[in-house]
Amino acid sequence: MISPIPTRAHLRDLSEFARIQTASFPPHLAYKRWMLFVFWCFPGVTFAVTRDGEKVTGGIISDTHHGMIRIMNIAVHPDYRRHGIGRALMRSVLDARPHDSAVLMVQEENTAAQALYRELGFEQSGYLGAYYGPGRGGIEMTLRRG
Ligand SMILES: CC(C)(COP(=O)(O)OP(=O)(O)OC[C@H]1O[C@@H](n2cnc3c(N)ncnc32)[C@H](O)[C@@H]1OP(=O)(O)O)[C@@H](O)C(=O)NCCC(=O)NCCS
Repeated sequence: MISPIPTRAHLRDLSEFARIQTASFPPHLAYKRWMLFVFWCFPGVTFAVTRDGEKVTGGIISDTHHGMIRIMNIAVHPDYRRHGIGRALMRSVLDARPHDSAVLMVQEENTAAQALYRELGFEQSGYLGAYYGPGRGGIEMTLRRG
């Protein structure tokens, strides 16, 4: 059954989420399993996934720094997109700390993710021309609350 309710990632979920990373990002941006393991271990990092039965359908990694939520990574399996999973993953992080503002970086050409963030109230708050590498700009988006 497809569950849009994110729950804490288990160690056994990391390989599947690494495959979703590979399917979702160019090679230099996709987190490998060992990188996901570091996030998974790190105190203060929240790592949640959604599932369809036992299959991982998406995941989100975030933390909080000086009262600001930082979304570090979100990805949904290509076969499961446009079913509200990305929104549910974002909401689970934002709703857990309803008074905190949130910030993230997104590739300037990634209009799908930007549409999701705008729908949730994020606005562009900065731009870094080479954030993702030479000629690969990153847009900073912020949700201001509180
Ligand atoms: C961005 C991403 C996480 C969205 O996940 P998703 O589960 O497909 O998103 P949802 O179904 O929850 O979409 C919620 C809303 O976001 C917007 N949206 C999502 N994908 C969109 C797209 N391809 N084009 C336009 N709007 C889009 C829409 O407003 C959508 O609402 P609607 O379906 O009712 O119109 C997914 O496309 C993904 O994994 N992309 C690759 C990885 C990535 O880019 N991560 C973000 C890096 S910053």
